[in-house]
Amino acid sequence: MRQETQIQLTKRVLAHIAAQGTDHSAAVTHHPVSLYTCPERFAAERQTLFRNEPIVVAMSCDLRRPGDYVTDDNTGVPLLIVRGEDGRARAFINACQHRGARLAEGRGHAKRRFVCPYHAWSFAFDGRLAKLPHEEGFSGLDPDACGLQERPLAEKYGIIWVRPEGDAAIDIDDHLEGLGPELGEFNWADYHHYETRRIDVKMNWKLVIDTFLEPYHFATLHRTTVGPIFLPNMCLFDAFGRNLRETFPRRTIAALAEQPEDQWDFVYHTALVYVLFPNTVVVMQADHLEIWRIFPSADAVDQSHMYLEFYIPEPVTNDKARAHWDANMDILVRTVLEEDFPTGEGAQAGFMSGSGRSHIVFGRNEPALAHFETVMAAALD
Ligand code: FES
Ligand SMILES: [Fe+2]
Repeated sequence: MRQETQIQLTKRVLAHIAAQGTDHSAAVTHHPVSLYTCPERFAAERQTLFRNEPIVVAMSCDLRRPGDYVTDDNTGVPLLIVRGEDGRARAFINACQHRGARLAEGRGHAKRRFVCPYHAWSFAFDGRLAKLPHEEGFSGLDPDACGLQERPLAEKYGIIWVRPEGDAAIDIDDHLEGLGPELGEFNWADYHHYETRRIDVKMNWKLVIDTFLEPYHFATLHRTTVGPIFLPNMCLFDAFGRNLRETFPRRTIAALAEQPEDQWDFVYHTALVYVLFPNTVVVMQADHLEIWRIFPSADAVDQSHMYLEFYIPEPVTNDKARAHWDANMDILVRTVLEEDFPTGEGAQAGFMSGSGRSHIVFGRNEPALAHFETVMAAALD
């Protein structure tokens, strides 16, 4: 992050500390519980947001070498994303052009080609059909018309997006609405994947994202875990069109008031939460990066699953480093699994029962929540 931005943001935090304040939205807002329970709305979200919009599928550092690949089935479209010999990442439908078998599973590294497990048609990393056994059986078939079906992909700022449905090219700077260069300054393409966790919850996918969007709950819900690390009920909120940045200052940031501005390390003294429209939460912690990709599950409005991907700046080379990152991962997962998500699941169950209030309320001190839900509602109009 540029020093100029770090200085500006630090000044805002120090002013809040002096005034015991936080960023506020203009007004208290009320939102219908049906945001989290309405099946028709849920169906529209799955199509509009998770099929038609660009979705984050991986980080550039997941596909370091030609042949490195990931698969993704989270949107209902089977995707295979691979780094080509030419260095370009491409996305294909993960289905053989012979009779539809899946070409790859999970994530990994393919040697030279993808070979179909069914009858061994093989495909180059640029999607071309490279070889088929017993070619004489397919005389008259045009091999050039048998390449894998490609989907639009964009790679920039260390992040890879795919549009699961449709052929429209992705203009990622248009999509990020001014946030891109700031993301690029973190050099995430040089990071290293440490661990992936899948977490399934009985919550609407938007309610999962809501749990990241305010520090109002830190002093109560996270009293003994991450609460002591952060300033309670203090955030900076900045919208970038449909995306947002929410800053949670650590208590240590107060010490910067005594240091010269050109040495202010804002990133070290905060957790920076970015929501990349529509469903990716990027958490830049002082020393590592978390990517949370949250998806609606199956056909149930009250179920979702997410992938938490943990990235670190240097590869792990010894047990001490491994123990350090394992401990980091442990407190992170414990906090969400034992505190945030059980609380959210309780709220979701209440919403589903139809027994409570028809609306919930977002305080002025929860500006990112109101922004996120407003943006989601507008996207469906
Ligand atoms: S389905 Fe792939 S080779 Fe037959
Ligand atoms: Fe939380």
